[in-house]
Parts: sequence; C-alpha cells; structure tokens
Amino acid sequence: MKKISLTGIKPTGDLHIGNYFGAIKPALELTKEYDARYFIADYHALNTMRDPKGLNSTIRQVAAGWLASGLDPEKVIFYRQSSIPEVFELATMLMAFTAKGLMNRAHAYKAAIQENNEKGDDTDAGINMGLFTYPILMAADIIIFDSDIVPVGKDQVQHIEMAQDIAQSINANYGQQVLKIPQAGVQEDSAVIPGLDGRKMSKSYNNVIPLFVPEKTLRKTIMRITTNSQSVEEPKDPDTSQIFQLYKLFADAAEQEALAGRYRAGGMGWGDAKEELFQVVNRCLTPIRERYDTIMADIPALDKILEQGAEKARPIAAATVKRFRKAAGID
Ligand code: TYM
Repeated sequence: MKKISLTGIKPTGDLHIGNYFGAIKPALELTKEYDARYFIADYHALNTMRDPKGLNSTIRQVAAGWLASGLDPEKVIFYRQSSIPEVFELATMLMAFTAKGLMNRAHAYKAAIQENNEKGDDTDAGINMGLFTYPILMAADIIIFDSDIVPVGKDQVQHIEMAQDIAQSINANYGQQVLKIPQAGVQEDSAVIPGLDGRKMSKSYNNVIPLFVPEKTLRKTIMRITTNSQSVEEPKDPDTSQIFQLYKLFADAAEQEALAGRYRAGGMGWGDAKEELFQVVNRCLTPIRERYDTIMADIPALDKILEQGAEKARPIAAATVKRFRKAAGID
C-alpha cells in the first residue's frame, strides 16, 4: 500500500509564492510516490475571515490555485475541510487528550498574547477559541486520513509535532496504534520564503508576492522589494540578497550562475536585479495564471470537483473515527 501525503491551505487571502514553494510544489511532487489528500482549510479561515463574500471567494481562489498549479483531481483526493464533518468529530475526541498547556505553547497563540501585552491590552483581547485550539483541528485534519507525510513550510512544523504528541498519547492510553503518527515534510531550500521586506512571506505581514495578479501588478510588487543603499557600481553579494534568494526559486542553474556573476562584478543596480527577478517569475507564473483564470471562469465545475473529492474522502475519514470510537469504548 502506498503511503499517504496530506496538506491544506487556509483560504485567508491571495495565494502567494511562499505557499507555492513551501507547500503546493513539494506536495504535487509527492503525488508521484504517495497517495495524496490535499484540501482547503476553510473552517480554519473562519477564525479571522468574517466577511462571507470574501471567504466564499478565497475558498474558490485557493482551490483554483491548486488545480492551476497542476493538481490532478483524478489522482489526488481534493476537497474542502468543511465537507468532511468527521474531521470535527475527531477534533472533539482529540481535545479530550490534549493538555491545555500544549496549546499555551503554540507559536501563533503566544505571538497574539505577546502583541496584546506589548500594546497594554488585555492578554486575551481578540483571541477566539478557534485560534487557541487551532492545533487540535489541524491535528484532526492530518490524523483522520492516516497521513504519513505532511508537506509544509517551516512555520507549520510545530503544529505537526503537536499532532504527533496528541496521537502518541492516545495510542499510549489504549496500548495499540489507534492513530497513525504523521511526519512533517519540509524542503530545506523552500522552508521559509522571504517576503518583500525580508521577513517570512506572510499574508499577515502584507509582504507577499501573489501568484495570480496581472503582469503589471506583479512587476510593481517586485519593484517594492526592500533593498539597501548600495550604489549601482558596488559589487553585491548574491548570497545575502533576498532578491537573489527569490530568483533562485525560478531560474535554472545556468541563469543563477550568470546572474550571481553580475551581482559580484558590480555595475548592476537593485532596479536591474528586480527586473531580472520579474522576468523569471513572470515566465513561470504566466501559464499558471492563464489556467487559473480559466478555472475561475467556471465556479460550478470547480465546486463539482471539490464535492467529488469529498465523496471519496468521507468513507476514509469515517473509518478512522470508527476505529477510535471502538478503541475508546464508544462503539
Ligand atoms: P497557510 O495557509 O498559512 O499556508 C499554507 C502553506 O504554505 C506554507 N507557507 C510558506 N512556506 C514557506 N515560506 C513561506 N513564507 C510560507 N508561507 C506559507 C505554509 O507552511 C503551509 O504549508 N495551518 C495551515 C493550514 C492547515 C494545514 C492542515 C496544513 C490546516 N490544516 C493540515 C497541513 C496539514 C496554515 O495556516 O497554512
């Protein structure tokens, strides 16, 4: 039996190249060897997305992004989290085995508390239980499909370790392997894609290069990348430049070597470096963007694909819940 690869994306905004290189591309690569289950984490998005129209549309955008990037729904079980009620049933069961202290240590929750404290607000201001228990729902997403590997960027590794902890304590309690222990699959060269300001590319930092914007907007966005004050003449170090780091994701080895030489020789300003980056990004994204536009033009067809995926997913999810209920004595 093939091993299982699973991952999800939260539809909270435009897909960006951090999502693409951190998760989508490695996940699609894994479909060659693994049985894959990829999904849109729409209930996770509910923690922050309160505009129904906006959420409705980002769900489709993320789904179309996966398909435009090459996901084949005949080969991959592709679905919306919200279509699999068993996930929420499993999450409730996992809660009984999750220490509150474990949730207190989650990065996203800790960052939210720290921000409140720095602002002098109440510690828990604006923090809902969805955010606090986020790692439990994510553990359910993963565990319900007996996942072996979870391709993600580095920012998600702690969540997968928590899923391991929770599953292990359940297996230990019942003295048998009720739930499979998942592993994170993080690619070294794309674990953290930098954003326009050099910090991790993230919707919440407003520093993203979106995947599906018109060419003109793409160029404008790339031109906004923060640079230092080195003059055109000065030699530049490609290894410390985030423009070059991004370039490497899109260019072949010969192109990388040639451009690194131009950085080191001096005589190339940051404006030129950004133009070179734009050219390779645009070359890679143009066909994906065209497929995306076609898919977005037929939402009913897209929804049908997701519904068919959910039909395939539900019996697998139900079997995991049944197994756990039996082990727990609730059968
Ligand atoms: P999300 O929606 O924030 O991000 C989706 C995926 O993109 C990766 N990523 C990055 N990788 C490298 N560099 C970056 N700058 C970058 N920004 C984003 C993320 O690591 C992620 O893999 N909690 C998840 C969604 C989720 C999930 C799951 C994932 C819900 N359930 C089960 C895996 C398995 C999230 O918010 O990802």
